[in-house]
Amino acid sequence: MVTESDGTLSTGVRDVESTPLDPSDVLIAVDYSGVNFKDVMVAAAKSRVRRVASLVGGVDAAGTVMRSIDPTLPEGTRVAVHGGALGVARDGGFAQFVFSPARYVTALPESVSTRVAMIVGTAGFTAMASLLALEDRGLEKGSEVLVTGATGGVGSQAVAFLAASGYLPVASTGSPSESQWLLDRGARRVIGRDDVADNPGRVLASETWAGAIDCVGGETLAQILRSLRYGAAVAACGLVASAELATTVYPFITRSVALLGIDSVEATTSTRERVWSALGVLAPRIDFEPLVDREVQLEDLTSALDDVRNGTTRGRILVNPTPV
Ligand SMILES: NC(=O)c1ccc[n+]([C@@H]2O[C@H](COP(=O)([O-])OP(=O)(O)OC[C@H]3O[C@@H](n4cnc5c(N)ncnc54)[C@H](OP(=O)(O)O)[C@@H]3O)[C@@H](O)[C@H]2O)c1
Repeated sequence: MVTESDGTLSTGVRDVESTPLDPSDVLIAVDYSGVNFKDVMVAAAKSRVRRVASLVGGVDAAGTVMRSIDPTLPEGTRVAVHGGALGVARDGGFAQFVFSPARYVTALPESVSTRVAMIVGTAGFTAMASLLALEDRGLEKGSEVLVTGATGGVGSQAVAFLAASGYLPVASTGSPSESQWLLDRGARRVIGRDDVADNPGRVLASETWAGAIDCVGGETLAQILRSLRYGAAVAACGLVASAELATTVYPFITRSVALLGIDSVEATTSTRERVWSALGVLAPRIDFEPLVDREVQLEDLTSALDDVRNGTTRGRILVNPTPV
């Protein structure tokens, strides 16, 4: 639980009773949750992301439906739940049980176990939603697609999904010691954070990327825009460096590039089904276990959140709420 009282923040494990906010809420027995960058923001003092003083954290979870009146989610359905107010304004997935409105719950494809679903998690969902947005815009197989923040939860899965889908992911990272790991995940090549674009003195850089998935925002996103090929697009899904964007209109009006916004939180039911279905097609082609930084119990969450805050993790931290 994350609790803020009189300006003092505390985190810890407690026994609390799960209660629905609405009688129609779906009850899920949680097999796994995961640690996301957003969980770190929720667990901060004076958080602008957390909307209540006290809650069970965890913006995503996967498990089995225990109780539901929704005919599309009968008891026993294996599901992923993420988005909406989960772990932000209502109790989330860092628990053995969670209640959620049905619209944030998606039945998992046969090929996706609840463990794989939470290795994927909100991060992988966002990576796949980004890839589908680029494909909708006409991304061509065999082309080089830039991924920034590549060793992170979203970035590492974007690299793996692009490679498994027939593209050539180029991983941009500030962690050069992780280059081999990124190559093993399917990166065609690895570049530094400052190597996204050339011609620094000019308005536009060389036309380099057929597409891009950006987890970083700020100056990095501006550099991507000036180095996209004619007609290409960047899927903007993150802001780890900055929420600011200073650019010119030249990439848009002389190269016809597109800036595609990606949001997983309020993704519609049809988008959720499309993304999880696409993940189900890719799942048999991907070895997900190397994307696990480590598996933790609820008691280890405070240090896991610290590690994500400090950027010392690689891929996803899985949370297993079942007591050992
Ligand atoms: N749109 C959505 O619905 C949605 C969903 C999930 C996440 N997100 C956002 O996506 C972003 C990534 O999330 P995540 O879970 O992948 O986070 P993460 O696991 O913490 O990874 C972020 C990565 O970005 C790089 N990085 C960190 N600080 C940086 C800096 N100051 N400048 C440049 N690069 C930096 C690091 O990779 P390298 O060391 O490899 O450079 C780090 O591993 C976050 O902003 C998160 O809020 C959005």
